[in-house]
Amino acid sequence: MAYYSDELIEEVRSRNDIVDVISGYVRLQKKGSTYFGLCPFHNEKTPSFSVSPNKQMYYCFGCGAGGNVFTFIMQYENFTFHEAMELLASRVGIELPKQEMTPKQKREADRRSRILEINKTAAKYYYMLLCSDQGKTARNYFEKRALSGSTIKHFGLGYSGKYSDDLYRYLKKQGYEDGILKESGLITIDEKRGGYDKFWNRAMFPIMDVNNRVIGFGGRVMGEGEPKYLNSPETAVFDKSRNLYGLNFARQSRKPQILLCEGYMDVIALHQAGFDNAVASLGTSFTSGHANLLKRYTKEVYLTFDSDGAGVKAALRAIPILKEAGLTAKVINMKPHKDPDEFIKAEGAQAYQQRIDEAENSFMFEVRMLERDYDMKDPESKTEFFEETAKKLLQFQEELERENYIEAVASRYQVGFEQLRSMVKNQAARGAYPGKERRTLKSGVQKDKKKPDGMKQSQRLLLTWLIEDTRLFEIIEKYITPEDFTEGLYHTVASMLYEQYRQGAVNPARIISNFTEEEEQKEVAALFNARIYPVENQAEREKALTETIVRVKKNSLEYRAAHLDPTDIAGLQQIINDQKKLDQMQNLHISID
Ligand code: UTP
Ligand code: MN
Repeated sequence: MAYYSDELIEEVRSRNDIVDVISGYVRLQKKGSTYFGLCPFHNEKTPSFSVSPNKQMYYCFGCGAGGNVFTFIMQYENFTFHEAMELLASRVGIELPKQEMTPKQKREADRRSRILEINKTAAKYYYMLLCSDQGKTARNYFEKRALSGSTIKHFGLGYSGKYSDDLYRYLKKQGYEDGILKESGLITIDEKRGGYDKFWNRAMFPIMDVNNRVIGFGGRVMGEGEPKYLNSPETAVFDKSRNLYGLNFARQSRKPQILLCEGYMDVIALHQAGFDNAVASLGTSFTSGHANLLKRYTKEVYLTFDSDGAGVKAALRAIPILKEAGLTAKVINMKPHKDPDEFIKAEGAQAYQQRIDEAENSFMFEVRMLERDYDMKDPESKTEFFEETAKKLLQFQEELERENYIEAVASRYQVGFEQLRSMVKNQAARGAYPGKERRTLKSGVQKDKKKPDGMKQSQRLLLTWLIEDTRLFEIIEKYITPEDFTEGLYHTVASMLYEQYRQGAVNPARIISNFTEEEEQKEVAALFNARIYPVENQAEREKALTETIVRVKKNSLEYRAAHLDPTDIAGLQQIINDQKKLDQMQNLHISID
C-alpha cells in the first residue's frame, strides 16, 4: 500500500508546518512553547486542543484526537491518507509523481469502476422504463405523491419492471459477466434459476455519493407490501455509514444548516419545496461516520424526524452523536403530521420554514422527553425528574453556559433558579457524570483511558519523556530496549524511535506517517502525549523516572516469562539474568542533570 516513498512523504510533511496548517482551521493561541485552541473534533468551551511546533503534532487532552499534519487533514476533511498527501503537497507546490498502481490495486479500482458503471446503467434503465408504457403505474404513484416531472428527473427516480430478470437480461446484453453483476448487488445468481433482479415492480430511488455517482438504490413498493423499502446491500462502492441521501445536492446549498430527516421521500419533498439542504441516512441509523461527513459542510444540524415514538427515539440517539462530532443540533417539531413529506403536503413550505425558525434546542428537547418518564403530579417523581435534569446539566462545563441552561429549565418547569442551581452543585459534589456520550470513542486507546491500564500508561510515559527530553535517551537506553514495550503498537513505535536516535534525528511526527489509517495515527500520537504530572523538583522527577523504568522492565520480564517456549533454554537464561539486573535496579538511582 506504500504509494509514495518515505522520503517524499516526509518532505511533504516537513514542508507543511503543523501550526500553519491547523491555523487555517482553528484559532490558536500560544502558551509557552505550545499552541492551544478549541478542539474541532469535540464540543468544548475551554481549549484542550494543543499543537506543538517542536513535535509537529497535535493532541486533544479532552477527546484524545491527535496525530501529525496528515492525521489532522484526514480527520478534519474526512480524507484518506492518499488524499491528505495530495492536498498538502499541492499546498506547498510539490508535484507528486503519477501513481503507479500494483496489479492488485488496479484490479480493485477496475472492479469499483465497473460496479459504478453498472449502477449508472441501471439507473438510466429504470428511468427509461418509468417513461415508457410499462412505467404507467409508477408514474401515477409519483404523481399521487405530488412529485413533479422535474423533481423526478433531478433525483433520477425510476421504475424496475414487472419481470424478475428484466435488468439482468439488459445488463448481459451490454456485456457484463455474472461475477461482476453479482457484486453490484443488483443481481442474484442462482445455480438453478440463473440470474434474477433484486428489484422488480418497485419505484426506484438511486442513491448518489457527494460526487453524483450512483452507488446503490432504494426501491419502494407501490401500495401495500413488505418490505416497504428494499435497499441495495453494501458493496465495494456502497458504504451506508459514510453516505447520506441528498448530500450531493445539499452540499451545494447556500443555507447554513443541514436538515436531517429519516426517509428518501422526506428528502425529495423538502428539496421540491425549496429546502435543498435536506439529507437522510440510508435505511440505517445515524452514525458518527455520518456526523463526521456532515461536519465537512455545516456546523448546525436540524433534526426533522418522524413525530412518532420511533422518530423521537432516533432523535435522542442522534443528538449525542452530533454533539460528539462538535455539531450543534436542533429539533424541528412535525406535529400533528407524521413526517416532513406529509407536513409539506398538508401545510406548505412557508409553514415548514416557520417550524425551522421555531426549532427546539436539542438539550431542551432531551429534557422534555425525559419529563415524559415522570409523573409530574407526584412530588417524589417530580423531584427525581429534577435530579436527573440536574445531572444532565453537568455536561455544560462552562459556567455561564450552564447557568443559561439552568435558567431555561427553571423557567420552563417553574422551579426556582437558585434551587435548581444548588441541585446541580449537589450532583457535581456527588461526582455525578452527565452521561456516557463523551466516552463512546472506538479506538483501544480511548477505552484504556476509561479503565486506566497502569502498564500501558507507564510505557506511554516513557515514550513521551523520550521525545520531550532527548537527553533521557542515553539513560533509558541502558535499561530499556524496544523489546520491553510489550504492547504490539508500542513495540513498533519504540523500535522506530530507537532507530531514529541511532540515526541522530528524533522525529516523532515522521513515525506517525508510517501509519496510513487515521485510527492508528491517533493511537501513536497518544503514545507521545501521555499526561505528565508536574513534579516539584529534580529529585521527584528522577524518582518518577526510576520507578517507571523499573515498572516497565518488570512487566516485560513477566510478559516474557509467561510467553516463553518451554524448550527455549537460552530465553530462560536471559530472563534469569534480566531478573537479577532488575533486582539490582530496585535500589537504582538515576540522576538527570
Ligand atoms: P418510513 O417508514 O418512515 O417511510 O421509513 P417514509 O420515508 O415515510 O416513506 P414513505 O413516505 O412511506 O414512502 C424511513 C426510511 O427508512 C428506510 C428507508 O430509508 C425509508 O426512507 N426503510 C423503511 C427501509 O429501508 N425499509 C423499510 O422497509 C422501511
Ligand atoms: Mn413518509
